Amino acid sequence: MLIRPETEPDHARVHALISAAFQRDDEARLVDLLRAKHGDAAISLVADVPGSDLAGHIMLSPVAILDERGSVVREGLALAPVSVDPAGQRSGVGSALCRSALSCAQARGTPFVVLIGHPAYYPRFGFVPAGPLGIQCPYDGVPEEAFMIARLDRAAMEEVRGTVRFDPVFEGL
Ligand SMILES: CC(C)(COP(=O)(O)OP(=O)(O)OC[C@H]1O[C@@H](n2cnc3c(N)ncnc32)[C@H](O)[C@@H]1OP(=O)(O)O)[C@@H](O)C(=O)NCCC(=O)NCCS
Repeated sequence: MLIRPETEPDHARVHALISAAFQRDDEARLVDLLRAKHGDAAISLVADVPGSDLAGHIMLSPVAILDERGSVVREGLALAPVSVDPAGQRSGVGSALCRSALSCAQARGTPFVVLIGHPAYYPRFGFVPAGPLGIQCPYDGVPEEAFMIARLDRAAMEEVRGTVRFDPVFEGL
């Protein structure tokens, strides 16, 4: 299995894969919108098994942390969604995608990655609850432990406090 950046010919297969993983179309449409809007500012990777269907996909897209006046204090990325073909789940594909995407983000100098996800899954990749660090989720009803951050550049995040601004397309989910 090869983890690589997606290319234009992958787009339709990525859409189908995400729909299959989530058993609905919403996350696949979200990825189409984020890709169209952010282009290379997003990280979009596929898990490719040569000669077979794609095994998985992950997207990281731009977000910012705003202070109480609404000024941007730090820009980073949000991890969402990560999708693994239902036939190949629980065999390490999602983990490989998360680790590769975080490596890509770090190589670009991204100071942080946030996500809303399962508290049992993401800590293994370096994610910790964001609230206790002073980084707030903008959405009501998200359990505190589900809103997580990976600080890829600890020094750059030292004094950073505020609320994450996600791309408005996430509000459609
Ligand atoms: C969640 C998902 C990406 C994980 O990928 P994966 O390749 O199946 O997982 P891995 O093999 O890398 O890791 C397996 C571990 O993840 C855990 N795991 C798998 N799916 C999980 C889920 N939905 N919630 C919490 N933990 C999950 C397994 O229990 C296992 O834990 P363990 O190592 O402690 O035993 C994949 O199951 C998937 O695509 N699910 C449907 C879409 C989804 O819910 N995406 C995440 C939200 S954006």
